[in-house]
Amino acid sequence: MSIFIAIKDSIIFNASFFGLFLGLFQLPINISYGIVLIIDEVMSGFGRTGKWFGIEHSGINPDIIVMAKGMTSGYLPLGAAVVNDKVSSYFDKNALIGGLTYSAHAMSCAAAIACINVYKEDRLIEHTAQMGPIVKKKLQTLQEKHPSIGEFRGIGLFWVLEIVKNRKTREPASPWNKPYSPEMAQLAADLRKNGLSTFVRWNMIFIVPPLCITEKEFDEGLNIISNALQITDKTMNE
Ligand SMILES: Cc1ncc(COP(=O)(O)O)c(C=O)c1O
Repeated sequence: MSIFIAIKDSIIFNASFFGLFLGLFQLPINISYGIVLIIDEVMSGFGRTGKWFGIEHSGINPDIIVMAKGMTSGYLPLGAAVVNDKVSSYFDKNALIGGLTYSAHAMSCAAAIACINVYKEDRLIEHTAQMGPIVKKKLQTLQEKHPSIGEFRGIGLFWVLEIVKNRKTREPASPWNKPYSPEMAQLAADLRKNGLSTFVRWNMIFIVPPLCITEKEFDEGLNIISNALQITDKTMNE
């Protein structure tokens, strides 16, 4: 029997999972039992958390990392599964029967190399690490101002606000996996109308700006979010 553990985006989708995850994998379970640890860094990879990969915050060495988005910053489509020697050595003697028409397309690979050079030359990962604590402070202030922010969490430039109707019960402002509540739909429309393009899902507002963002630009975006939060502040039921 083979056991695989796959961790998908543990940082912001799951409230307290990141801490649990760091603790859990400090146990040598994958070493002792031959479990393959697969880490999904599609969102958290390429500097988003202030390190090249989110898993580096833990000191754990996964067997496989899957990655995409930040690999080319979306300029061209490319994803990859990067494996350690333990996994790759299996394929020294065994063929990997797979492949797609456009696998490893040279142009997408060139875009990835160009992006990686920009991350390094513009010191974007160092910049993201520096922005992390600044963002945290700003979000603390935002939460003090807006009762509808139930929780915020994140690291580097990878944050999410969870919008609630009631801070004590943590009733979400829009139900999980259902269409938007009227107030959340209005909030999302307000962000767009005021020029802020971000991902809003269920009761969550993602704060995942470009890694080159300045503090001044960040404040501009946060101001738009702050104005829009007046909509959900009014529909609190506590
Ligand atoms: C955390 C995470 N994992 C995996 C995926 C899927 O990635 P892909 O479309 O490159 O297969 C996504 C897509 O949004 C994602 O956010």
